[in-house]
Amino acid sequence: MECMPEGLCGYLDGLVPPRHPELMRMEAYAAEHRFPIIGPSCGWACYQIARLIGARRVFELGSGYGYSTAFFAKAVQESGGGEVFHVVWDQKLSDMARQHLAVLGFDGLIRYHVAEAVQTLRRTAGPFDLIFCDIDKQGYPAALPEIAAKLRPGGVLIVDNMLWHGKILDDNHHDPETDAIRELTRLVTTDPAWIAGILPLRDGLLVAQHR
Ligand SMILES: C[S@@+](CC[C@H](N)C(=O)[O-])C[C@H]1O[C@@H](n2cnc3c(N)ncnc32)[C@H](O)[C@@H]1O
Repeated sequence: MECMPEGLCGYLDGLVPPRHPELMRMEAYAAEHRFPIIGPSCGWACYQIARLIGARRVFELGSGYGYSTAFFAKAVQESGGGEVFHVVWDQKLSDMARQHLAVLGFDGLIRYHVAEAVQTLRRTAGPFDLIFCDIDKQGYPAALPEIAAKLRPGGVLIVDNMLWHGKILDDNHHDPETDAIRELTRLVTTDPAWIAGILPLRDGLLVAQHR
């Protein structure tokens, strides 16, 4: 989805500092194969937020081939080390992530799981400083209680695709994915346990702090 005004997405991506050649290769792969990575401006926002809270333990639900993981791993590494959970149910993507993240120097930080992400979070001991969610959109509302249970007090949830290419703006548009995103938005913005808002970066990034 192109941001409004036209050209804003490109402008914001252009403000992100130069990236490691391996990250640029991952961006080129996404463009060539139309793989939905979060992209430079959202990746950088994830890195900034993780740095701001000094995140040392991060859990990602729906990690792809490791592009978003790299931004969290950079923050954790700079905060003094810790662990970042990379969870995706595609073996091929997990294998690709291992290669990319090793080249980027993050190998020792990453915990790889090839499995359903919400079940993996349920089985993993918390607490986490930051949890990032980018799974199939219909799974968003059901993931929320599992996420809340595993975030430390003051921990941060980040969720991608909260504008869903603008579909959420059309009240007459209903499909399971769009309605699931609307439901997650309602849940986090009406529950006083969360301090939540959507940053209109690229496809919309929910940032919510758990009290
Ligand atoms: C949008 S892509 C992730 C992109 C990644 N966050 C990035 O920016 O680099 C989502 C990936 O998670 C996988 N996925 C979706 N739902 C999942 C689930 N419930 N459990 C595990 N993997 C899931 C998809 O197959 C896909 O490979």
